[in-house]
Amino acid sequence: MRKLVVLLLLVAASPSLAQYNPYNYTIEKKTSGKAAVVSAHPLASKVGVAIMKKGGNAFDAAIATQLALAVVFPGAGNIGGGGFMVAVTNKGEQVALDYREKAPGSASRDMYLDKDGNAQTNLSQNGHLASGVPGTVAGLFSTHAYAKLPFKQLIQPAIDLAEKGFVITESEANSLNNYAGQFVRYSSRPSAFIKYGGWKAGDTLVQKELANTLKRIRDLGQKGFYEGETARLIVEEMKRGAGVITLADLKNYKTAKRVAMVSKYKEYTIVGMPLVSSGGILIQQMMGMVENRNIGQYGFHSWQAVQLMIEAERRAFADRAEFLGDRDFVKVPVKKLTSPEYLRERMSDFELGKAGNSKTTNHGNINPESEETTHLSVYDASGNAVSVTTTLNGGYGSRTVVGGAGFILNNEMDDFSIKPGVPNMYGALGTEANAIAPNKRMLSSMTPTIVLKNGKPFLVIGSPGGTTIPTQVYQVLLNTIEFNLSLEDAVWKPRFHHQWLPDVVYVEKGFPADLKTKLEEMGYKIAERGTIGRFEAIKIVNGVVEAVADNRGDDHAEGY
Ligand code: DON
Repeated sequence: MRKLVVLLLLVAASPSLAQYNPYNYTIEKKTSGKAAVVSAHPLASKVGVAIMKKGGNAFDAAIATQLALAVVFPGAGNIGGGGFMVAVTNKGEQVALDYREKAPGSASRDMYLDKDGNAQTNLSQNGHLASGVPGTVAGLFSTHAYAKLPFKQLIQPAIDLAEKGFVITESEANSLNNYAGQFVRYSSRPSAFIKYGGWKAGDTLVQKELANTLKRIRDLGQKGFYEGETARLIVEEMKRGAGVITLADLKNYKTAKRVAMVSKYKEYTIVGMPLVSSGGILIQQMMGMVENRNIGQYGFHSWQAVQLMIEAERRAFADRAEFLGDRDFVKVPVKKLTSPEYLRERMSDFELGKAGNSKTTNHGNINPESEETTHLSVYDASGNAVSVTTTLNGGYGSRTVVGGAGFILNNEMDDFSIKPGVPNMYGALGTEANAIAPNKRMLSSMTPTIVLKNGKPFLVIGSPGGTTIPTQVYQVLLNTIEFNLSLEDAVWKPRFHHQWLPDVVYVEKGFPADLKTKLEEMGYKIAERGTIGRFEAIKIVNGVVEAVADNRGDDHAEGY
């Protein structure tokens, strides 16, 4: 008895015994050294760097970081979602992995329309039917082909964090409390995310069911998720909530290895994600539209530069809505959309000082040619660069937790165009090219990007933020290349966003008031909104690896 009291006292007095918190938890926004991981959570960045210190390369670190994020950042880190990886190896090989979710085999074009043909976004955004077939676990195993350490070693930190728990911050507690009602509504079983009486800062989030799922992946590989017990639990959850993902959908899921989207901008080479990400094309279009206009002469946040950038954004997003979708299913005129002649023509009606208009500026003429996500950037000491953006789509995805398996499913089906003219949750429009079809991938804005200078990685960048992702990447690129901002200024300074429709320029708090007035005088409609994205950036100059985490969240840069 005495022994037990002593033990209880010890546990109460010593947070390190009561709460598993293996790493020092202060948030670092900047590092400089020979290798780095930048991600949305300090524990995840630290897991990644610890793996590199144990002999792993950037791919090992990216896998371990993503798995840790699936535990410590349940709002977006995931095994029930999907993502993209762009990498450049130290041998110069360019890699683009597409592990975006797919529509289930029984999905159909009008599955979210009621009998009168009205779009039911409540079904494409919430609960079981909103979920596409998850791709993340397949993607991690495809990434492992480039890694050095055994997968078992890479997944163990995530298992430990899930099993023993980790201490949550006030904002994490608030976030879980805010979503409690939705977890109850859209899940059929109780889950680790709900705490009777509510969460508070300093509580420990333990995820036993998720730990068991991760152990099955550790022990059985990809089959530990897509077949056997985990697959059975997913399908049972589907049946309890009228979802449609089947055992066959899961078993058939495969990562698509794509050819990276590569373009030149002055002396830089931009290596981006091709379709089904719209990001690579949008970046190529927007950069191409400003390249010959000497934008650097105007300076950062000058009205001339900002207007030019907005008009390029407008035109690129009009094309996105009309032409872009899964190339495995529809023809997309990528070559034409990114050709210098086409981009010059698209900007031919641009007038400095006068706002464009999305009623008159539509998509280009082409003859048929024969908001929660998370990003991580990694660079290792041997020169491998990895850029990953992964998502459940909305915060906590569909809010459907797979009963007995402890992970949240995505609500990515909403990224399809569920009906022409009906915007998705990020206001993006689409047409035929992005209509739902069985096994098709939904169009994405995620834009993991690597920029090369003299053939070597110079920037490893990306962000969450739905449709604002490509415009964020575009701004950080120009901030760095054209306006010569330091990396932290390039990432931390206020951003703006235009996506054709709605015909509004969204600006963050802190966007200069005189610039806002000037744009309004030209005829732009300006709306202030919440923060745009959580950008993670690495810059490599003369062998020094500088990493900057966004100051818009708890994002953390870890290096050595
Ligand atoms: O793939 C896409 O474009 C969206 N599902 C991304 C969502 C997102 O970035 C939300 N983040 N805040």
